[in-house]
Amino acid sequence: MSTKEAGIQTTAEFVQEHELKRVLGPVQLIMLGIGCIIGAGIFVITGTAAATHAGPAVVLSFVLAGTGCLFAGLCYSEFASMIPVAGSAYTYAYATLGGFVAWFIGWNLVLEYLMAAATVAVGWSGYFSDLMAKAGIHIPEQFANAPFAFTGAHTLEPTGAIVNVPAAGLVLALTTFLVVGVRESATFNGLMVLIKVAVVIMVIVFGLQYVNMDNVTPFIPPNTTGKWGEFGWSGVLAAAGLIFFAYIGFDAVSVAAQEAKNPQRDMPIGILGSLFICTILYILMAFVMTGIVHYSALNTAHPVSSAISSIPGLAWLAQLVNVGATVGLASVVFVSLYGQSRIFYSMARDGFLPPLFSAVHPKFRTPHRGTIVTGIFAAIFAALFPLDILGELVSIGTLAAFAVVCLGVMILRLRSPKAKRPFRTPYVWIVAPLGILACVAMM
Ligand code: ALA
Repeated sequence: MSTKEAGIQTTAEFVQEHELKRVLGPVQLIMLGIGCIIGAGIFVITGTAAATHAGPAVVLSFVLAGTGCLFAGLCYSEFASMIPVAGSAYTYAYATLGGFVAWFIGWNLVLEYLMAAATVAVGWSGYFSDLMAKAGIHIPEQFANAPFAFTGAHTLEPTGAIVNVPAAGLVLALTTFLVVGVRESATFNGLMVLIKVAVVIMVIVFGLQYVNMDNVTPFIPPNTTGKWGEFGWSGVLAAAGLIFFAYIGFDAVSVAAQEAKNPQRDMPIGILGSLFICTILYILMAFVMTGIVHYSALNTAHPVSSAISSIPGLAWLAQLVNVGATVGLASVVFVSLYGQSRIFYSMARDGFLPPLFSAVHPKFRTPHRGTIVTGIFAAIFAALFPLDILGELVSIGTLAAFAVVCLGVMILRLRSPKAKRPFRTPYVWIVAPLGILACVAMM
């Protein structure tokens, strides 16, 4: 099915003039997905989720959130193989639900990608400053933190800091990479992904030997306060909503459709492959973290390294974990910036944004101007705001996009039942409604 039949108002002239370079194969697409998935979610949020909501049963929360994402991932795969143009959920919404919903989803995706880049850059700044300090280089506090923090629901107060220089610096440096070229960027991303996956695997393999069954018994700590979400089954659900953040990113693969060599075949491989690999790693990592120390000790800013360093036999691994987290978070920022520039590109193509955003550099064949504007905005947010404000916006924006994609798949099945679908969502009438239900519940 052509993009035109799908209802997307692109023209052959436009595509020729604005063609992006097709350089990404299946492995690079999986790497792109993992690049965006493994980050602050597993390295930071899992600790809070286990300590305050689920205990060792955070493992079950990962299974639940992962299942919800699998439903959305299957729907994304059908769309990405049918409509292999840039823009992800925005493009699919345009094809099925019309311009207004597409416009709404486009801005939801801005919450997802631009804010995710800023959020994770702030998390990165913390790990980076810590690493530097251990190497004897002390970054002054007032230049490594946000100048504002939310104290109440709506009260923004000065923190005494001036600007978060490492966070903004990271965003600008990665933006430069993205302008120069996608192949170069993909290679760089691949390297970052290998390092963080290696660290996660090391934590699992070496950590498993120190799992103490006393720490994971009872597996679901009872809810003793009677409050919803404080352990027991409600705690498992509450933790699932929180750690959903850890899975965000597999959809970034679909953003790259226009730069994939064989999108019809490789988009589903990239989306489902990266989701599958990360789900397995997350479940094992959560089991190891709650098995080597008591879950109550995990409510820290660096739960993985603090759990590891409390085991004498594993102390050597702690600094490596910090390196892995620093690299891992940087790659999430990188892929988020990439995704955002491609979504702006698609929105400009459809006339929702000025043509500046769909301009393609004659030599690099990247949407350079849109990438630079994206980088500047993300750097400003990263320089000025703290992690918690930004993080919530990310999850809400993403869940809305996922739900619309699940709805869109069903609509397109009804409207164009005979269209060529290189990938078909299995049991779509069960999978898509369950996907919507899971997203709305997590929202
Ligand atoms: N999934 C990404 C992370 O955990 C957003 O950092």
